[in-house]
Amino acid sequence: MSQVHFDEIGKLYGVDVWAVRSFNLTVNEGEFVSFLGPSGCGKTTTLRMVAGLERNTHGSLRFDNEVVSDAKAKIFLPPEKRHVGMVFQSYAVWPHMNVFENVAYPLRLKKIEKSVIQSEVMGVLKKVELDLLSERMPHQLSGGQQQRVALARGLVMKPRILLLDEPLSNLDAKLREKMRKDIRSLQKELGLTLIYVTHDQAEAFQMSDRVVVMNAGAVQQVGTPHEILNQPATNFVKDFIHSH
Ligand SMILES: Nc1ncnc2c1ncn2[C@@H]1O[C@H](COP(=O)(O)OP(=O)(O)OP(=O)(O)O)[C@@H](O)[C@H]1O
Ligand SMILES: [Mg+2]
Repeated sequence: MSQVHFDEIGKLYGVDVWAVRSFNLTVNEGEFVSFLGPSGCGKTTTLRMVAGLERNTHGSLRFDNEVVSDAKAKIFLPPEKRHVGMVFQSYAVWPHMNVFENVAYPLRLKKIEKSVIQSEVMGVLKKVELDLLSERMPHQLSGGQQQRVALARGLVMKPRILLLDEPLSNLDAKLREKMRKDIRSLQKELGLTLIYVTHDQAEAFQMSDRVVVMNAGAVQQVGTPHEILNQPATNFVKDFIHSH
């Protein structure tokens, strides 16, 4: 559980493609923050820079007081040293591993003792209500259950920060609604610092403490759902919230 500080974070591809530019934000400990914006606005890129899967070309990133990446000082902490859990946009559960093994995988990589793996995995499966299905193979699960496997895998390392990239986009409306509530209550229960990416404003406004509205790589507004709905800071924000 940590604060995340973005200080003038940027990602420049080649000489003139700014995927993200001058991104400034502090995500507080235990806070649920959503990145909201249209396709291509830089949401995934920003998230991947937090995870260390993408290197910021500008600015610096801190978790609490620890600099995890600083473009100028050439500091870059690799993903495995960041203790960040991430569930990807096209979440992948491994089809040839059962639920238990899917979730155990990150712990096996770390060569953690078998009995510890057993109890940690079952603990997290209980949290996402999959403990009774631990022996099932992915093809024997519903979309929502598969999604919860991916979530459990993101949680099993007890990450200090959890990143979710459009985790519910493959689910039908009813299940999406249930999962929104489940994720939010799990986040509160565990006191997780959570960054959530979505282009669905209803989702962002329903789940988040604060929302970051982005467009074309730039932050348009940071605020509570109430502030953004009632005091849109730019014309883009005004149009975006009214066109959906
Ligand atoms: N390797 C790359 N080289 C050049 N440009 C890239 C590269 N990867 C991403 N981009 C560009 O960076 C911008 C931001 O992409 P990103 O994936 O962060 O968007 P996004 O907000 O997650 O969109 P979506 O909602 O469609 O997932 C896009 O314009 C994209 O084309
Ligand atoms: Mg994306």
